[in-house]
Amino acid sequence: MNGKLVTFEGSEGAGKTTALNRIISIIEPQLGNDLVTTREPGGNVISEEIRNIIVDSRNQNMDARTEALLFAAARRQHLVEKIIPALKRGQLVLCDRFVESSIAYQGAGRGIGEAAIKNLNDFATEGLKPDLTIYFDLPVEVGLERIKKYRSDEVNRLDKEKHDFYVKVHNAYDEMATRQSEQIVRIDATQTVEQVVSDVLAIIEKRVPEYFK
Ligand code: TMP
Repeated sequence: MNGKLVTFEGSEGAGKTTALNRIISIIEPQLGNDLVTTREPGGNVISEEIRNIIVDSRNQNMDARTEALLFAAARRQHLVEKIIPALKRGQLVLCDRFVESSIAYQGAGRGIGEAAIKNLNDFATEGLKPDLTIYFDLPVEVGLERIKKYRSDEVNRLDKEKHDFYVKVHNAYDEMATRQSEQIVRIDATQTVEQVVSDVLAIIEKRVPEYFK
């Protein structure tokens, strides 16, 4: 597989999706068919259906391991249907969230533990790792304030978690970014969207220069 997989991570309110949409609109004209953009959980019919079960506000009694299995199942289908074929075609895949989200949210946030989530996801991915992960780093308080302000109209089951949950998620991302510094690049998400977009573009162009010649 000679394509490249770039993933985007961060807690709620970090501005990841807004920045990603702008980045795509900037590089799409340049890259054309070399670019594939997608998101987790989702990216194909089966995985979007699993996503609906996961985020449904009626599913309040979902067990933490059930949730982890559903994310891993959605990821497996997404990889097989979309990511691996794109990598085989040599495309650049930009994916909003991947295994690191499960490690942070289910492993740390839900307390299942990193080792169990890694094992589960190794089964789902057969060990496939991103070439680069961009981590939108934002203090928990700032993220939660932003959710309250901008997302009150579309609060899903996972948005309803408490402050402590997000502290655990944030700490897990922080540890991963420190430990896997070759793969995970930290972006200061307290900056303006323009600055964030410009930082991310610079990193992508540096790390996968073959697409920007
Ligand atoms: P989004 O806000 O980026 O659309 O992601 C949907 C929610 O799913 C968000 O609260 C993060 C959560 N999530 C996990 O808990 N584990 C995962 O593996 C993934 C991909 C997302």
